[in-house]
Amino acid sequence: MSKLITITSGKGGVGKTTTAINLGAALNSFGKNVVVLDANLTTPNIGLHLGAPIVPISLNQVLSGKAKIGEAIYEHESGTKIIPSSLSVRDLETINHKRLRDVGRRLRKMADFVIYDSAAGLGDEAMAALDASDELIIVTNPEIPAVTDALKTAKVSEQMGKKVRGVIVTRTGGSKSEMPIENIQEMLELPILGVIPEDESVKEALVLKDAVVHTHPRSKSARAYKTIAASIAGVKYREKTFFERLFDWN
Ligand SMILES: Nc1ncnc2c1ncn2[C@@H]1O[C@H](COP(=O)(O)OP(=O)(O)OP(=O)(O)O)[C@@H](O)[C@H]1O
Ligand SMILES: [Mg+2]
Repeated sequence: MSKLITITSGKGGVGKTTTAINLGAALNSFGKNVVVLDANLTTPNIGLHLGAPIVPISLNQVLSGKAKIGEAIYEHESGTKIIPSSLSVRDLETINHKRLRDVGRRLRKMADFVIYDSAAGLGDEAMAALDASDELIIVTNPEIPAVTDALKTAKVSEQMGKKVRGVIVTRTGGSKSEMPIENIQEMLELPILGVIPEDESVKEALVLKDAVVHTHPRSKSARAYKTIAASIAGVKYREKTFFERLFDWN
């Protein structure tokens, strides 16, 4: 059955877009049909992370009732399907956020997984993405302000009756004073789906305009994203050892 997962956070800049495109790319590599949609309409990121061209039809046209969702799907050169939002401020004027739910209903028929990259916080835009989803993944960094804001998002989701699949803690290992994962789990009372270490490869991938699971498939962050995606897809994943790769002639 098709699933619509919204990637959200309390605090901004914690790694939602990175997570959305890497889970999307990893699910795609496991043979799943995936669409990653940029539900962060005011400050869209997907196009920037994946180097999508300035597209003639973006999500904005769909949400303004001027285009059909099928016309706004683009295939990134890696094979991941994306729906970018417009970078133009003018394209924000006639948008009805509530249409995200209808868009989701239609996308569900076209894909195994629909991933919404949300805006941070609990404003109208973020709430529309929460509301449209079947379930949520909350992204946080291992710092008290980010985890405190994540808790707020978790509580609101609970009140809305939305299932939170769990939490992904990103950019770990960068500082001695960061919160231990056990404390984050205790505070949020949610499963920790995975931990993504601070990794220079993620920044290099951003420059290369592709997901780190493609640009640096054996990096620690790529392996962590693939492990989470495998568990979501219900498939087995194991990275080949050095010797297996050495003798792998295919
Ligand atoms: N594991 C990581 N290691 C190093 N840098 C990272 C990692 N994850 C994300 N980043 C960097 O952190 C910055 C913010 O990431 P990203 O854009 O994914 O956050 P976001 O939550 O989507 O932000 P926003 O709330 O503005 O939409 C980016 O420059 C990204 O490359
Ligand atoms: Mg983002």
